[in-house]
Amino acid sequence: MPKVVFINDKKEKQEVEVPAGSNLRTEALKANVSLYPGLAKYLNCHGLGHCGTCKVLIKQGMENVSPMGMFEKIRLALMPFATIGHEHEMRLACQVTVNGDCTVSTKPTVDMEGENFWQKPYPNK
Ligand code: FES
Repeated sequence: MPKVVFINDKKEKQEVEVPAGSNLRTEALKANVSLYPGLAKYLNCHGLGHCGTCKVLIKQGMENVSPMGMFEKIRLALMPFATIGHEHEMRLACQVTVNGDCTVSTKPTVDMEGENFWQKPYPNK
């Protein structure tokens, strides 16, 4: 069975074994992993992929989860500030199928120090 390591915003780790082919959001909630910030815990779309509040970062094992679907791409594109600095690792937990080991960071914050063109220093300095 695949192992999913959840890392929360306080850098605490929780390792969970999940059945192959299971949904990441469902397994996180079963293991009492907090996915939602604030009131989003109650005010979310319950896994329909509409609200975007279940966003997580797949820190390791992106090859072991399902590829991003069209609706997930559209949903993430609708919240561009949330994905800054995490363009290649942000996913919606409710849209992710776990097929192998992975490490997941929950409740990501905006990465204002990421590798973005507007943050790179001038070449002459
Ligand atoms: S729970 Fe709403 S997008 Fe995942």
